[in-house]
Amino acid sequence: MALRVLFSAAEVQKRVEELAGQLASDFVDTELIVVGILNGAAPFMMDLLRLLPTGLALRVQYDFVDATSYCGRESRGTVELSRELSVDVTSRSVLLVDGIVDSGRTLDTVVTALQKWAPAEIRTCTLLDKPSRRQVAVPIDYRGFEIDDLFVVGYGMDLDGAFRGLRHVAVVESSSEDAE
Ligand code: IMP
Ligand code: MG
Repeated sequence: MALRVLFSAAEVQKRVEELAGQLASDFVDTELIVVGILNGAAPFMMDLLRLLPTGLALRVQYDFVDATSYCGRESRGTVELSRELSVDVTSRSVLLVDGIVDSGRTLDTVVTALQKWAPAEIRTCTLLDKPSRRQVAVPIDYRGFEIDDLFVVGYGMDLDGAFRGLRHVAVVESSSEDAE
């Protein structure tokens, strides 16, 4: 197995800055609640929050939900929500953040779960999007990069728990030795 850099740490940071700028102009005077999907969203979401201008940063609250669908490199096809929100989102604007959207099931499951609290709106944000893998149509409002059907790690993304701490995004490539 080998890792090939797809987006360098500098490229990732530049794009996250751009997204933070977009959020800053879209959520002026909004009491925004940012909800991250564990574990993958954490580095992206924390960087995003730290890049918000003071005016918005003062009003932001954040929380996490936990949803898991992957085992190794294959999605299990069902998504379970194993952590509920501790922040009240009723009548508030929610920004739901994940590191990557693949089949769309995770994001769709969490959007549906959050709707029962009747937020004013739910917008979605992901660093990486694999549109060719989509099984469930789910709107994405803020997207860092579109990528092909590749399995990636780093900046929150993992392969069986490893590689989440990388500051860049890399593609996992199988080498001929893997089969031996
Ligand atoms: P979906 O539910 O199929 O959209 O998958 C979304 C979740 O699967 C993400 O939150 C990730 O945890 C995981 N995932 C999807 N693609 C990748 C990948 O390329 N690398 C690592 N994790 C992935
Ligand atoms: Mg995950």
